[in-house]
Amino acid sequence: MKSIVIFASGSGSNAQQIVEYFSVSCVARVCSIFSNRENAYVLQRAKNLNIPSLVFNRKDFYDTGLILNKLEDINPDLITLAGFLWKVPEKIVTAFPKRIINIHPALLPSYGGKGMYGINVHRAVIENREKASGITIHYVNENYDEGAIIFQAKCEIDEHDTPETLAEKVHVLEHKYYPKTIEQILESR
Ligand code: GRF
Repeated sequence: MKSIVIFASGSGSNAQQIVEYFSVSCVARVCSIFSNRENAYVLQRAKNLNIPSLVFNRKDFYDTGLILNKLEDINPDLITLAGFLWKVPEKIVTAFPKRIINIHPALLPSYGGKGMYGINVHRAVIENREKASGITIHYVNENYDEGAIIFQAKCEIDEHDTPETLAEKVHVLEHKYYPKTIEQILESR
């Protein structure tokens, strides 16, 4: 059985989908959820789902090496970022080559990079009157949203869409495709 560690900073609806999907899978299990925010709702979800969680601060992520050491102890087959807002330090990226993936709520390479997260992304897409948006699942490298693309899915935008309704459409795609894509990556190894 392979193992997955999830990193999340917020509500954690994607994290929950991944945990539930793999709770009945014979490919992998989620073994831990790491969060940089002690009041993030994802931690409550972890509790409800009986998944061990760990809260860490900036120092342990970037300076002391504590998080790198924890990850090396667990040695997960895949680290999945699900609404995780900090940039992953180079030391962690190089310790887990092709083993860290992220989901971005737009069609990269458009609408990526620093500041392009959450509702900001959807606002920018709507302001530019795009006809479509979607999701991008990609490998993580040392730059925001620039690693090789693994999977994309699109949704249409109509003239009544607002950043909030677009966020809902994108969430539907994320929940549908993120767990499956993770499974395919793990199965292909
Ligand atoms: C998702 O839209 C994801 O693409 C982005 O952050 C959001 C997290 O949502 N990176 P949730 O916390 O999983 O509900």
